[in-house]
Amino acid sequence: MNKVQWSDALLLGFEPMDQVHRDFVDLLAAAQNADDTRLPAAWQAVVAHTEDHFGREDDWMRRTHFSSADNHILQHRVVLNLLRDGIGMARAGELERVREMAGELAGWFAKHTQSLDAALALHMRRQPAEALTRYRTRAPVHATAP
Ligand SMILES: [Fe+2]
Ligand SMILES: [Fe+2]
Repeated sequence: MNKVQWSDALLLGFEPMDQVHRDFVDLLAAAQNADDTRLPAAWQAVVAHTEDHFGREDDWMRRTHFSSADNHILQHRVVLNLLRDGIGMARAGELERVREMAGELAGWFAKHTQSLDAALALHMRRQPAEALTRYRTRAPVHATAP
């Protein structure tokens, strides 16, 4: 299985996004290391965090009229729908399928972060300083592994 792992290659230099990504890696790692009893709750935590993570990025893109927003927002929506399907799989006891999905998510995350998110981070770093302060003052996402 493709195990998620934090690496400084994932740092994009836009701190609010880097923090959300660190928390995501922690939660996905917790799900990948969870035993069968803990996996359903751990997966639910990944999905809840991802809803917030993608929601923040979508919000940044809309508020700053980011030119590549449509493609990026669509990719978030497709992936989030798949992850939500995983909650149903976990409830149905199809844990192997959830573990496969977690591995695929780990691979997707690294690629997405280094392509679409990297472009967004660059765009956000170019925003006026006062706008960046506003984005940074939003409540931080807390990673809470079950
Ligand atoms: Fe992201
Ligand atoms: Fe993204």
